[in-house]
Amino acid sequence: MKNDILKVLVSEEEIKAMCKRLGEEISRDYEGKTPLVVGLLKGCVPFMAELTKYITIKIEMDFMVASSYHGTINTIGDVKIKKDLDSSVSGRDVIIVEDIVDTGNTLSTICELLKIRGAKSIEVATLLDKPEGRVIDFNPKYVGTLVPKEFVVGFGLDYNEYYRNLPYIGVLKPEIYERGDVDE
Ligand code: IMP
Ligand code: MG
Repeated sequence: MKNDILKVLVSEEEIKAMCKRLGEEISRDYEGKTPLVVGLLKGCVPFMAELTKYITIKIEMDFMVASSYHGTINTIGDVKIKKDLDSSVSGRDVIIVEDIVDTGNTLSTICELLKIRGAKSIEVATLLDKPEGRVIDFNPKYVGTLVPKEFVVGFGLDYNEYYRNLPYIGVLKPEIYERGDVDE
């Protein structure tokens, strides 16, 4: 798997430091509150696990699976909820945890949906932000780091469902895309 990586963009140590910084910031910002931390599966898994280690206030965790249809107009209809939350967001302070914000479509739609459902507040924590990919105005509050407009994998991010288990963020060798499959 590691042979498929052209370069490492964000190292394991950098990811850990980012999660610590964001976890501490969230703990300060939500002091006296009990936010509902909502992870967007599957990409959120490693980030959510690492980030929440550094959140020192009481939280609840829940998960959603959403799939977005890129290149279409941004309405709730464009994002399909494949697995919904178990908990009600009504009156809750919600923090959505995502692997990367690219076009901004997925998160702006989910934020809109949770607002309609009566969330008291909604903020987004994302490991990576690719601002050059934005097609709509969307600014996540908690950002690990910015990345260039390149396709990245690792720490939850996949290419054809592979590479989510890499402990760092990297860029794949071009031949991986050309081949359309991956080595074991
Ligand atoms: P968007 O912000 O609605 O465009 O969607 C963000 C989603 O697209 C993320 O949750 C990822 O699943 C996927 N995505 C965007 N950029 C990348 C990338 O560079 N690598 C892997 N997945 C990506
Ligand atoms: Mg995703």
